[in-house]
Amino acid sequence: MDLIGYIESKREDNLNELKEFLRIPSVSAKSEHKPDIERAAQWVAGKLRAAGLENVEITPTKMHPLVYGESLRAPGKPTILFYGHYDVQPAEPLELWTSPPFEPTVRDGNLFGRGTADDKGQVHIHLKALEALLKTAGKLPINLKVMIEGEEEVGSVSLWDFVRQNRERLKADALIVSDTAMLAKGVPSITYGLRGLNYYQIEITGPSQDLHSGVFGGGVPNPITILAETIAKLHDANFRATVPGFYDDVAALSRQERKALNSLPWKEKEFRKTVGAPALCGEKGFTIVEQLWARPTIELNGIWGGYIGEGAKTVIPSKAYAKISTRLVPNQDPAKIAKLVERHIRKLLPKTVHCKFEVLSTGKPWVAPYSHPIFQKAIHALEAGFGKKAVFIREGGSIPFVTQMHDTFKVPCVLLGFGLPDENAHAPDEHIALENYFGGIKSIALFYEQLATP
Ligand code: BES
Ligand code: MN
Ligand code: MN
Repeated sequence: MDLIGYIESKREDNLNELKEFLRIPSVSAKSEHKPDIERAAQWVAGKLRAAGLENVEITPTKMHPLVYGESLRAPGKPTILFYGHYDVQPAEPLELWTSPPFEPTVRDGNLFGRGTADDKGQVHIHLKALEALLKTAGKLPINLKVMIEGEEEVGSVSLWDFVRQNRERLKADALIVSDTAMLAKGVPSITYGLRGLNYYQIEITGPSQDLHSGVFGGGVPNPITILAETIAKLHDANFRATVPGFYDDVAALSRQERKALNSLPWKEKEFRKTVGAPALCGEKGFTIVEQLWARPTIELNGIWGGYIGEGAKTVIPSKAYAKISTRLVPNQDPAKIAKLVERHIRKLLPKTVHCKFEVLSTGKPWVAPYSHPIFQKAIHALEAGFGKKAVFIREGGSIPFVTQMHDTFKVPCVLLGFGLPDENAHAPDEHIALENYFGGIKSIALFYEQLATP
């Protein structure tokens, strides 16, 4: 049977197998899911073996195991490293899911469940493409190394050590990743830029203990008020970050790139609908696409303190907290930005409180040219798999491994994403469009096949 015919004939089987993968609640952030993480790693290892990979290993780390496998039986053909992650974000708030997060369900041409788009569904696309190549040709057309990690959603903490210790083994002619989104339905996309991410947590302490707000209120500093005032000063009226020096190293878009990005078939109306807010806001002087892909931001990700239980409790809390992140673009340096943010916040705070400032993680932005011939092969494979024209895009999200690999091996990184921006990654009712899942399998199989031709 031919490749595409084989993939078509396996639609039901593949979907059922993906559901099996999705039923394992491999939430990397919560220790109670440690056994599920182990189970997911085993599951991936089994499928790698079934897809014809050898030397399949599950490497334990300080946190969650890494799965690696390879097939190096195509002498003279390129060697590709494929990277993905089998861990998922926590599913909470559970009550907002239409069907339970770990009971995958098809509705209206979409498969719903935690990890469908980010990233189990996309990893599975590759597993099934490899299996189709193996079953129809008897062997894989290229040399392949596959690394699937279990810590992406918590910052890929062990990955860097693994890469350093396995430098020779991981060497490849190109890195392929499917952990991003398409620009829109019917627009297959290759991502050539990601923002970097720094994540901070601050703890503000006023009184050394919680106080009765009647007895003490009016005469003491309230850390929640002070935190709120400080946070409110992090942006100006034009929605620019007020951190001095924040924009100093930001690379401006070339006129050519600005034109290319702004003429993509990106629909503002759809973006507004996905967001669902009464109105949008963003840095003045830039289009939304520029704001999302090419401008840095400072965002509040969480804020808490004081009493949030049922009813009333009259208390002045001792502490208030916030989780803050900055998305970074070329040529911002994460370490430098972390220092600038800390200095700025400390300066804004009054003398009435203490502040503990922690940098939880840092990550560099990534933007790379797409002139290497491999990108043309990728474009052709996407167009053949989807029957639609493919485009080059940048995105606002972050994948630490891509930057690390690009810095280490200086090889082309081809990001073929099969999610969609409105598929609720990290949110309730996460889903993947079945047409993109099936189109993805065809595209990846065709891409790997084409990589074997000169
Ligand atoms: N798959 C995403 C990254 C992504 C999403 C890239 C959409 C491009 C478009 C990844 O799983 C993720 O969520 N990354 C985190 C960073 C990580 C260090 C926790 C992010 O971007 O917030
Ligand atoms: Mn992901
Ligand atoms: Mn994610």
